[in-house]
Amino acid sequence: MTKILVTGGTGYIGSHTVVELQQSGYEVLIIDNLANSNIKILDQITKITGKRPEFFQMDLCDREKVFDFFSKQNDIAGAIHFAAYKAVGESSEFPLKYYKNNLFSLVNLLEAMDKAGCNNLVFSSSCTVYGQPDVLPVTEDAPVQKAESPYGNTKQISEEIIFDQSKTSDLKAISLRYFNPIGAHETALIGELPIGVPSNLVPFITQSAIGKRGKLKVWGNDYNTPDGTPIRDYIHVVDLAKAHLVALERMTNNKSEDQYEVFNLGTGKGNSVLDVILTFQKATEVNVDYEIAQRRPGDIVQVWADTRKANEVLGWKTNLELDVALKSAWEWEKNLAQGIL
Ligand code: UD1
Repeated sequence: MTKILVTGGTGYIGSHTVVELQQSGYEVLIIDNLANSNIKILDQITKITGKRPEFFQMDLCDREKVFDFFSKQNDIAGAIHFAAYKAVGESSEFPLKYYKNNLFSLVNLLEAMDKAGCNNLVFSSSCTVYGQPDVLPVTEDAPVQKAESPYGNTKQISEEIIFDQSKTSDLKAISLRYFNPIGAHETALIGELPIGVPSNLVPFITQSAIGKRGKLKVWGNDYNTPDGTPIRDYIHVVDLAKAHLVALERMTNNKSEDQYEVFNLGTGKGNSVLDVILTFQKATEVNVDYEIAQRRPGDIVQVWADTRKANEVLGWKTNLELDVALKSAWEWEKNLAQGIL
């Protein structure tokens, strides 16, 4: 069996990707320091796939441990690197925490991979690198704009580090720029697990609907969009997870056109905040209490993906619609309320 390393494999997108990998016959090794995830997710993955991934509780910033890991595992075919801090607001408050964690870990991983002759990397990037694009839908050629937050900057710098390393070594890498991942696995055994008050829209909706939070605040309805609320490209996390396998196999099957490639992962469709609320209500028959509030600083007006490169070059497309994603997020929230973890 082909061995794949998944860093951050107990996290939200990581855990869904581990499931897809195992169901496609890969042997998965997870490195995670559990800074923002729950060890019980391993049991959940095991319930879905019938197989427990090998787990290493380790901080990628611990250089010696990372090198030690690779010296004992010299037959890893590729790595999918999710492990990183991701809270935008917190990153502005503690920039060094973000630069240190997200960049030192990447450098350690790249060095250890190089030494071990492990030359295939999928990197978890974000559409945040485009800022507010001038042209929509946004293509991979759109200029990268000055980051709004240290978090966003770590994604930009990480992409540059990986690109530079690919120019001077045998490393092949693919950065996947995610739009807005939402939803949960169809079994509702894994899903998004925000710590504290969620800042993202969908977990706030589900927590508010279940009574764990107060009224949802819609951050502004005076934007220049049809209903006045901002527009995003919401992608089902399972569709997103599947793209990681396709990206990995593109490299292991020697299909890459360049040592370093970038793909947008989105649906190509934009939905407003009000669209999301109304679709959630219709899909679940649960009411969401909301009020219009002031704009949230740093929010862009609208962004959605041009998916042609991912569709035609990578050979991947989304299958799951917004209502399916929202329904799955709700099933997961109900399971959480019943103490599934
Ligand atoms: C946010 C981050 C982005 C990050 C992404 C990861 C900011 C400014 N951007 O993107 O860098 O890559 O998460 O998932 O934090 N909304 C409400 N009420 C809420 C929550 C959200 O109205 O309680 C609105 C927001 O104003 C926005 C939309 O819902 O228009 C989506 O918000 P969110 O889920 O936080 O995603 P982004 O802002 O797109």
